[in-house]
Amino acid sequence: MMNDEIKHSYLKTQNSGLKAQNFKKVCVLGLGYIGLPTAAFLANKGYEVRGVDVMQDVVDIINQGKIHIVEPDLNAFVKTAVNNGKLKAFTKPSEADIFIISVPTPFHENGHDIPTPNIEYVINATKSIAPYLKENNMVILESTSPVGTTEKVAETIRELRSDLFPQNNSKFKIQNSKLFIAHCPERVLPGKIMHELVENDRIVGGLTKESTEKVAEFYKTFIKGEVLKTDAKTAELSKLVENSFRDVNIAFANELSIICDKFGIDVWRLRELANRHPRVNILLPGVGVGGHCIAVDPWFIVANAKNEAKLIKTARDVNNYKTEWVIEKIKNEALEFEIENKKKPKIACMGLAFKPDIDDLRESPALHVAKRLTNELDDVVCVEPNISLKTIINSDGPKLELVEIGNALAVSDIVVFLVAHREFKDLEISGKKVLDFCGIAEKKLFKYEVGAKK
Ligand SMILES: NC(=O)c1ccc[n+]([C@@H]2O[C@H](COP(=O)([O-])OP(=O)(O)OC[C@H]3O[C@@H](n4cnc5c(N)ncnc54)[C@H](O)[C@@H]3O)[C@@H](O)[C@H]2O)c1
Repeated sequence: MMNDEIKHSYLKTQNSGLKAQNFKKVCVLGLGYIGLPTAAFLANKGYEVRGVDVMQDVVDIINQGKIHIVEPDLNAFVKTAVNNGKLKAFTKPSEADIFIISVPTPFHENGHDIPTPNIEYVINATKSIAPYLKENNMVILESTSPVGTTEKVAETIRELRSDLFPQNNSKFKIQNSKLFIAHCPERVLPGKIMHELVENDRIVGGLTKESTEKVAEFYKTFIKGEVLKTDAKTAELSKLVENSFRDVNIAFANELSIICDKFGIDVWRLRELANRHPRVNILLPGVGVGGHCIAVDPWFIVANAKNEAKLIKTARDVNNYKTEWVIEKIKNEALEFEIENKKKPKIACMGLAFKPDIDDLRESPALHVAKRLTNELDDVVCVEPNISLKTIINSDGPKLELVEIGNALAVSDIVVFLVAHREFKDLEISGKKVLDFCGIAEKKLFKYEVGAKK
């Protein structure tokens, strides 16, 4: 069942504009957290959607009207779209009017101080659509991308399809392209994707003014938020800057938590007090910063502006350091327990996802902590209520032991809260050492969240 608010938004946008233009067939490349909701939403709006993913099992699950990720309300959209024949998934693209690229843009773990952006998935997806492109097609890059990537998409197409980039004065110019190529970054929040997909404002930045206009027209057919028009590079940087802003502010909160620990001050209380200032809004400290976006995107700026992006780089370092600091705190606690009790403690790691109430483990600092503890200490169990107990996590490293909440609390000596999942909120814990790195113990987080300013 779609929730009422989403259904309402959906109906309000339902007939706006689709008739006004001739673009009906959409090919979405990459059916993950961004591509699948987008594909399912467009299919529910009447577009004929060909969803493409290189993973055969993803394609098979979607064609059964099911989903392979956890996201509220998404299953209803996918089921309806597949049953109506509007959404079909394949491992290869085919001809369409609009191509949306929503493939991963991770970074290269090159062992250097500054990871570098990996746009290979974007380039491969672009190559895969090149044979099917026709004059007047739109090519929209939704993947979060370093500045200049949309231009690289155009260059890649030009190398394979020079017929779509006629020569002018014996020179190829992107401006002469017969395609409408633009970047439209996605800024949805996992857990609220189906709502934010419609409600959020969107930025459309074309390689030409005409591309911006055409692509903006397309987004206006299905979103309720405002469509803001700019050029491709500004659109690319705006997405990176949004996440860097978050990263810098979280770094401040994380640094504060370490300073408070040094002085024996409760950071949650301090935050509550400081936030009573009318122009102060300190974010929540945690185990670090994770996920596909905030922990990754700032590097896309730093890698290409090493000398200029000093604060952004420092924020990344502070947030990464917080995770190492948490590991050291837990190891010290384990050592103290061992000295006192003449036996090694059993440790329960509560939460593995990169933030509360989702199943996403990408770049998760909590997962990093659990892996390191499992590797370095004897007896560690993990709880992640959003993931099936049968899931094999960390297949290439030490096997993490996933258990139920009750089981973890029954067997452990030290309980470490890493993620403030709702399932942990009302737990009664006694006779154990509790280490709280996400403000959930004693329900502090929830009490303070009510009072904290947005
Ligand atoms: N997840 C989020 O909350 C979020 C929010 C905003 C922006 N983004 C950005 O959106 C992009 C996609 O992220 P995601 O979370 O959906 O990733 P994801 O890993 O969930 O999904 C990407 C999918 O693309 C597929 N894929 C890889 N190469 C492909 C190719 N050549 N052709 C077709 N499919 C291919 C993968 O198999 C995978 O299923 C990234 O750039 C990310 O930074 C993500």
